[in-house]
Amino acid sequence: MAKSISLTRYLVEQQRVDGLIPAQLRLLLEVVARACKSISHSVNKGALGEVLGSAGSENVQGEIQKKLDIIANEVLIEANEWGGHLAAMASEEMDEIYQVPNRYPRGEYLLLFDPLDGSSNIDVNVSIGTIFSVLVKPEGVDVSEQDFLQAGHQQVAAGYCVYGPQTTLVLTVGHGVAMFTLDREQGSFMLTQEHVRIPEDTQEFAINMSNMRHWDAPTKRYIDECLQGREGPRGKDFNMRWIASMVADVHRILTRGGVFMYPWDKREPGKPGKLRLMYEANPMAWLVEQAGGAATNGRQRILDIAPEQLHQRVSVVLGSKNEVERVTQYYAQATSA
Ligand code: AHG
Ligand code: MN
Ligand code: MN
Repeated sequence: MAKSISLTRYLVEQQRVDGLIPAQLRLLLEVVARACKSISHSVNKGALGEVLGSAGSENVQGEIQKKLDIIANEVLIEANEWGGHLAAMASEEMDEIYQVPNRYPRGEYLLLFDPLDGSSNIDVNVSIGTIFSVLVKPEGVDVSEQDFLQAGHQQVAAGYCVYGPQTTLVLTVGHGVAMFTLDREQGSFMLTQEHVRIPEDTQEFAINMSNMRHWDAPTKRYIDECLQGREGPRGKDFNMRWIASMVADVHRILTRGGVFMYPWDKREPGKPGKLRLMYEANPMAWLVEQAGGAATNGRQRILDIAPEQLHQRVSVVLGSKNEVERVTQYYAQATSA
């Protein structure tokens, strides 16, 4: 019988056998996983747990917060603040960074998260998730927002947990991507896939087509060519999926390939895109690259973007390498034309 490996054992072995992660980072990842387990339980209770619906407040992005956005945010903070592994946290749901209170020891890591991704799907029982990114705090006693403004290639761990038909935690510490499925009887995440690879080619794209009239020329060109199918310049038919939870769309892409796009559009020309760089695009871009895929903002590798603000937004094209490169080429051609 194949040996079953829990997340705990996987992380211990990463630390001990391979020396890939320090003990503090192992602890941090275990704590994040425990928080995700707790969020998963709340998600599963749904209406029975009175966790559905709006909280009646707005976050820093001007979006109405759902009850679960706030619950998930609190679960992550409460789980992570006392362990001594973190200096501070940042979240989509908090305007400012959250410093570990003085009553607890402070560690060297910074944790960023989108506590609940896919909020519009909560009340309709469609997959949602939690996305997280881990950075090392720069030298110095105090921690400030500036300390968080590190490019994505400086992440030391990143992952997400998708709450769908199964609850699956997906993780990278820079040596490939591993997936763990929550075994509810045992209460443990169990390793269910290692060495995740995204096929370089795909016939499946994910984009919110209702925004088509607002797109710029390179995105229009790419999607239009996909839609022309076998009769068009691509010479093959494409399928489309759009779950409206980035976690679920990225999970599909890590599982069977595809390309995901949330481009800049003309509705709010001053806004670089909808998704947030630090706790949505960066962790997902790193996971995708670690699985052999690519991630750009149309012009530049996402992981190389120098962040200027904690909550800054970015255009996203990620997934199967050859398709992402094609989109990125279309942008380059449009600029040089
Ligand atoms: P969040 O729920 O954290 O605000 O993120 C939602 C994001 C992302 O998960 C998804 O891909 C996208 O918004 C969906 O946007 P549309 O509703 O415009 O399709
Ligand atoms: Mn999100
Ligand atoms: Mn969110």
